[in-house]
This record gives sequence, structure tokens and C-alpha cells, in this order.
Amino acid sequence: MNVTVFGSGYVGLVTAACLADAGNRVVCIDVDPERVAMLQSGHCPFYEPGVDALLTRNARAGRLRFTTDAADGVAHGELIFIAVGTPPQEDGSADLQHVLEVARTIGEHMNGYRAICTKSTVPVGTARKVRAAVARALQARGATIEFDVVANPEFLKEGAAVEDFTRPDRIIVGTDSARALDLMRTLYAPFNRNHDRLMAMDIESAELTKYAANAMLATRISFMNELALLAEKVGADIESVRRGIGSDPRIGFHFLYAGCGYGGSCFPKDVRALQRSGEEVGQHLGVLAAVEAANERQKHLLFERIDAYLGGVAGKTIALWGLAFKPNTDDMRAAPSRVLMESIWAAGGVVRAYDPVAMDATRRIYGERADLVLADSAEAACEGADALALVTEWRQFRSPDFALIKARMRRPAIFDGRNLYDPAALAELGFDYQGIGRASGRRPA
Ligand code: UDX
Repeated sequence: MNVTVFGSGYVGLVTAACLADAGNRVVCIDVDPERVAMLQSGHCPFYEPGVDALLTRNARAGRLRFTTDAADGVAHGELIFIAVGTPPQEDGSADLQHVLEVARTIGEHMNGYRAICTKSTVPVGTARKVRAAVARALQARGATIEFDVVANPEFLKEGAAVEDFTRPDRIIVGTDSARALDLMRTLYAPFNRNHDRLMAMDIESAELTKYAANAMLATRISFMNELALLAEKVGADIESVRRGIGSDPRIGFHFLYAGCGYGGSCFPKDVRALQRSGEEVGQHLGVLAAVEAANERQKHLLFERIDAYLGGVAGKTIALWGLAFKPNTDDMRAAPSRVLMESIWAAGGVVRAYDPVAMDATRRIYGERADLVLADSAEAACEGADALALVTEWRQFRSPDFALIKARMRRPAIFDGRNLYDPAALAELGFDYQGIGRASGRRPA
């Protein structure tokens, strides 16, 4: 099938690469010539396992090419994905400017039937706005050409995006057209495992499904984070509680980890955008307002605790393990590490940070500054530190050489924002240890 993808960001590029790998001829459009040049030379502009290999393989096979030429892209694909950015506006709503610009471009250049799919996370009602924008552009040319719109949200986790695309739990397709649905079924057939994963529904339900999924997951996390604070006060251990409730299949074990808050490009943005959508139609989503407030509080927790423990961080050095908002990515968007670092700096402390992949991303954001040392290793970050904060649960932080760390630190204190360590074991090793929600972290002997 001929497929065009507008946008070579995270979602667009993974979509383009995976669809090409399934045998489709894919053209990926981006307005940024530098990015396109980089992609043409086979380099992925962000860190995501597996994408580089897909780019090389499919570009070589002639199934995937990149261009800034929108007209070329519109002429190419019978199926066109819109996967451009929808940055949050000040009020939390998604900015649809780029999506609607692409829609207009499609209307200006299309020369035959097109199925136009929104892949970016967009609020309910966007596919219809896309339809109207395409129709207006066609009308302006005096053209009558048939087309359909489809809402086809993505459910890609950073760090596992290729896997999520090629082995999806579900493929959500919202459309009112049998023709477009047929095209989508053919396109996604290679990714159905064992049984049909494609769920066809109306456009609005498909659009809402995406937000509902992310908001539900964020809700679980904030709920656990609040329970963790309660656990500390009543002398309970949130890890025991997590295991206790997760074993109920109605609850399940996923996304029940208390920590130093959720970050990333999706949860914070989507929780806010969904509240905003509610407000627009007069439906207050009180649960989500609380989810967001709890998360903001949680992102400040590590700093407050370290600050209290040290009697102020001014002039102190804090070692920080993990900068990315979660493991296996270099993405720093809304990362809890940023709140911690910025609070430490504002209070006059120094950060010695280490992350397996997000060091360059950190340098790009903060530049060179005297109160930020990017260390060569996890151990080196601990050199002379008054406290160690663990913010991202990279695998390599799971069982470190505690004796070595202790020897390097000025003060053996660990603030574990992801509950990676056993409080009792760390106490025995001579650390002052604080997890999240682990007042009675000691397991029965
Ligand atoms: C999320 C959704 O999972 C994905 O389906 C959607 O398409 C995009 O948004 P992503 O943002 O990549 O994916 O990361 P995810 O693994 O969901 O983690 C989000 C944040 O929640 C991270 O900061 C993570 O540390 C935090 N988290 C996750 C917790 O604090 N506790 C948990 O139990 C799980």
C-alpha cells in the first residue's frame, strides 16, 4: 500500500518505519529540512530502541523515504497519517494548528481518493475539524474529490514503541466510512497476533479512548502516590499494599508503582487536555484535577525531603541517578528530575547527575553551568555527595555496589524515588534511606 506520514517526530517516525517494514511504500514528510537530511542519512533524531535498524533496512529496500515536499507526499499515499505535534497551549488544550495546516495542504494537493487518519493525540472533535479543513481547501480549488477521515490513536510507550506498534494490544479505528475501514484493516493485518486486534468504532469514541487510557493510568499512579504518603503516616508499607491489591485481577499489577511522580510527553499533557475538553462542554472532571495536583506535589517530594534531611541544600552536593522521565529513553519532557534539579539550584545546591542515555539531552536543555556536573558513571556521580536521589529506575541502578557508593559519598543518604531498594537492607549497610511510602519497609523475618 502507498502510505504517507506527515510528521517525523516520535509517533510519525515509528509509524512510518514500522509500516514500511510490513512491506508498504512509505513517504514521511517533515517541514524541518535538517531533520529530513538527518533521516535521509539513516539517523534517528531521538533515542528509541530498534528504530535505527528499521530506518536503514527500509530505506535500503526503497520502501521508506523522507522529504520536505508536502505535495509529493499527498500525491503518494492513498492513506495519509497526520502525526504532527499538538503542543499544549497555556490553558492546557492541545494546539491543533499544525494538524489543520496539514489537512489544508492535503486538500490543496490531493488528486484522488484519500483516507486521512489522525495519529497525533488530538481532542474529541479533531477528525471532524480535519474533514472540514480538507473540504474547504478542495472547495477553494473548485475540486470535488472523495475522501474520508479516520481517528487512529497510537498507544506507543517510549522505549518500547516498535514492540508496541508491531505487537499491539489493540488497534483503535474510528471512522464512519466502510471504504476507509477496509483500508485500515488491510494496513494493520500484519500486526494482528492470534486474534483480530482491530476495534472499529465511531470517530468520537476512538478519539476519547486515547485520552481515557492515559488518564486512567495517570489516575492509578497518583492514587498510589497519595496512598504512599498515607502509608508513611500510619506505619504501612506501600510495596506490601501494592502486592496486596495488584493480585486482584480486577485491579492488576500494572501502573501501581508509587514514586516521585509521572512525567513524559503524554500523561501530564493528556490529563490536562482532557480536563480542558470537559470544561469546553460544561463537564467538570474533578478526579483528573486531583490526579494532576497530586502529581505536582509528588514531583516536589524528593527535594523537600532532601532539603529537610540536610537542613537546607545550600552549598550541598546532591548525586542524582536518572534524568530521563523513565528508563530506556532520553526524553526529558516533564521529567521529575527537572523539578528536583531546578529546586536544588534555586536553593543554592550542586547536582552531580548520571543517566545512561539522557546526558546529551540534559546538556541541551541546561547548557554548561557551575552547579551541574554530568558525571561519567553512577559511582562518579556520588563523589563527595551529601545525598543520593534515585529518580529513574534504569536497570543498571537496581543492584549497585553499595559499599563503593558509601565510600564515595560524604554522607551515606539515599532518597529512593522509585522504591528500588529494600529499606531494611540499606539500613543494615549503614545508609540513611527513604523510599516513597515505606514507613515499615521491613519484611517479616
Ligand atoms: C504513555 C502510555 O503508557 C502510552 O500508552 C501512551 O501512548 C503514551 O503515554 P509513556 O509516556 O511513554 O507512555 O510512558 P509510561 O511508561 O506510560 O510512563 C509514564 C510515567 O509514569 C513515567 O514517568 C513513569 O515513571 C511513571 N509511572 C509509571 C509511575 O510513576 N508509576 C507506575 O506504576 C508506572
